[in-house]
Amino acid sequence: MRFNLSEVNELIRSRRTIYPEQFSDRKVHKEQLENILTNAQWAPTHGNTQPWRFHVFMEDGLSTLSSFLGTSYLKITPKELQNDMKLAKLIRRPLLASAVVAVSMKRQIENKILEIEEIEAVACAIQNMHLSCTAYGLGGFWSTPKLIYSSEMNDFLELEEIDKCLGLFYIGYPSIDWPTAHRKPLEFNTKWINK
Ligand SMILES: Cc1cc2nc3c(=O)[nH]c(=O)nc-3n(C[C@H](O)[C@H](O)[C@H](O)COP(=O)(O)O)c2cc1C
Repeated sequence: MRFNLSEVNELIRSRRTIYPEQFSDRKVHKEQLENILTNAQWAPTHGNTQPWRFHVFMEDGLSTLSSFLGTSYLKITPKELQNDMKLAKLIRRPLLASAVVAVSMKRQIENKILEIEEIEAVACAIQNMHLSCTAYGLGGFWSTPKLIYSSEMNDFLELEEIDKCLGLFYIGYPSIDWPTAHRKPLEFNTKWINK
């Protein structure tokens, strides 16, 4: 065994979504974020395209993100579908976090690798971030409000039209007991083929 498997199992299985409403005021350090993002970069990537891009919002940047989310929600959402509670949540959440990372997929101009595979690579990077947060005792929340797929979001992050923001990843120390969860038994989703 090259690593302590019981610790690896424990880390993977205790990774949990912890929402910004459940964060405390304790701040995450930039060095921790650098380590979390460095681990993200070690995700697998077909053709080594390394398609992930990170925009890290901290301190006053969190208000910038909050304002953007509020304004663009009202701009993009048809009046009859606008929901005050949703809007308030969008605006409030960045202000409750210690940091928010917008994680995006940068499409290669040559398009050699299928888009779905570039998206999969970025999803793996987000999982690495979340596992690293878990190791620090930090809560993480992968949020995907519809507006992250809009051209407004791409403009905000200075991305090209072919690129995609795949999530807002909220980070903060939890103010709650670490949540528990369960998964279906393996028999439910696994078929063994021996012949
Ligand atoms: C691609 C993706 C998008 C997600 N988007 C949201 C979201 O917009 N809002 C939300 O509450 N949870 C979101 N989640 C988190 C899931 O709700 C969460 O992973 C699920 O409830 C299982 O909980 P766990 O992460 O603690 O295992 C997302 C997860 C993934 C993989």
